[in-house]
Order: sequence, then structure tokens, then C-alpha cells
Amino acid sequence: MKNKNHLQKMKENKEKIAMMTAYDYPSAKLCQQSEVDMILVGDSLGMVVLGYDSTIQVTVEDMIHHGKAVKRGADDTFIVVDMPFMSYHLSIENSLMNAKRLYQETGGQALKLEGGSQEVITLVEKLTNAGIPVVGHLGLTPQSVNVLGGYKVQGKDKEKAQKLFDQALQLEKSGAMALVLECVPKELAEMVTNVLSIPTIGIGAGNMCDGQVLVYHDVLYYGVNRLPKFVKKYGDVNGATTTAIQAYVSEVKTGSFPTAEHSFTMDPQALPDKKL
Ligand code: KIV
Ligand code: NA
Repeated sequence: MKNKNHLQKMKENKEKIAMMTAYDYPSAKLCQQSEVDMILVGDSLGMVVLGYDSTIQVTVEDMIHHGKAVKRGADDTFIVVDMPFMSYHLSIENSLMNAKRLYQETGGQALKLEGGSQEVITLVEKLTNAGIPVVGHLGLTPQSVNVLGGYKVQGKDKEKAQKLFDQALQLEKSGAMALVLECVPKELAEMVTNVLSIPTIGIGAGNMCDGQVLVYHDVLYYGVNRLPKFVKKYGDVNGATTTAIQAYVSEVKTGSFPTAEHSFTMDPQALPDKKL
């Protein structure tokens, strides 16, 4: 399994890091088989797996439930687990308790926290000191969608760009092992990538980041019906699945499934006597 040092080395060697989300046993297994460098158990599971319209409803229990399944499917891959909405904002004690549970019960290798406020910076330092590696996340931070006013690119004006840049440096200083940059202009993502010594992982942040992350269901076009601008569709699971299910339904209705090939047989002598 890659560890924090391998990922750091990849940045130094200019070897790109491929990260993808996974939420359950089969998705994790397929990511590992496909040699993804890091798996993110993203709280995006609220939207793509649970059908909520944002990540705000996702709970610590949800993350643990899915994180454990991912771990069973990809025991040999570096797994990052998202801390969900408000699980790291109530108090230091509550945040540390939630972090402990998410880290210990899932068996993941790191936790990811959104934002760069002083509270988050302090927590990143405490968690790192306690032995829990932390990945930061700046730019579009979906847990704050209603404060940001929608899912849109972040850091386009001087003031916002400066703030993001300063927070990135602070996150690195406080011990973050990597930084996700979501929906950030590529010029700004490149500058942050060049200044930081930890790897940056972009999503909608151009091709100069040290790695990329995308959502499993978006990459595969699986259960989604529109894709953000920054996603490239690499498959069509919607199409393949619908075709397969329709064929099954149709063969059940016509009686052409199952045939002898999919049936068990026995000696008719051994059938029970009909006692009517
Ligand atoms: O939850 C998620 O999928 C994420 C990625 C978009 C970075 O946080
Ligand atoms: Na997330």
C-alpha cells in the first residue's frame, strides 16, 4: 500500500497521483484492481449513493458504514475518509471524538476536512499530533454550499485568491499531508501547487495539480444524469445497466429465462409422492 511518504515522493518525482472516490465493497475493489493511488470515501456519497441533494445530511454513522465497506474492498489502497458536515465544528472534544471514530472504525489512512478557518487549522494540527494524517480541502467546499451561494468556481478575484493561497500555506504548516483543490481556476491551483511541498489533488482545478480526484459515479456515468464541466465521462454504466436489466425483465416475461443451462435437475423417481 502507498503511504504518506510514497505520495510525497510522487510529487517530488512529478509522478501524477490518481485518486477516485468509492463508497462500498465493489467500487473499492474495482478501484484497487485498476491501481488507483488513493481512494476517497467522500461525503459526496450523500448525493450519488443516498440520493440527498447535498452533502449536508450525511452523518458520522453513514461515513463509518461506507468507510468500513470500502476498507473490506481495498485493504491494500490508501483510503481517505471525509469528516461530514458539522462533525468537526461543535467543540474540540467532539471533533476529536468523531475523528477518532472515523479513523479507528473504518481503518482508513487519513481523514479529510473542508475549509481553512482558524478552527480547522487548529484541528488539523491536533489530529496530526495525535497520529491521524489529515488531507485539507479548499476552493469549493460543498458542506458550505449555502454560504458560498451554490456550486461554483472559487478564488477568481484577488481577495479570494489571496485567502485561498494563505489558507493553503497554513494547512501545510499545521501538518496537512495533502490538499484537495475543488473548482479553482487553474492558474491559482498551479501557483498553490508550486509553493506547497505537500501534494495537491485537483477536481476542476486544471492539470497542474499533483494529482486528480473524481467521483466514481461521474467517471462511470452511473446513476447520474448530468455532469459538471470538470468531469470527463469514461464509461456508460447507466446505458450498460439499463440494457442488461431490460433484457432480463424481457426474458423473464417471455419465459426464455431460465433455460436448462441455468436450472438444476434430479431423478424424477426421487420426487415426493403426491398425497392428495
Ligand atoms: O466527497 C467528495 O467526493 C469530495 C471530492 C469531490 C473531493 O470531497
Ligand atoms: Na467531500
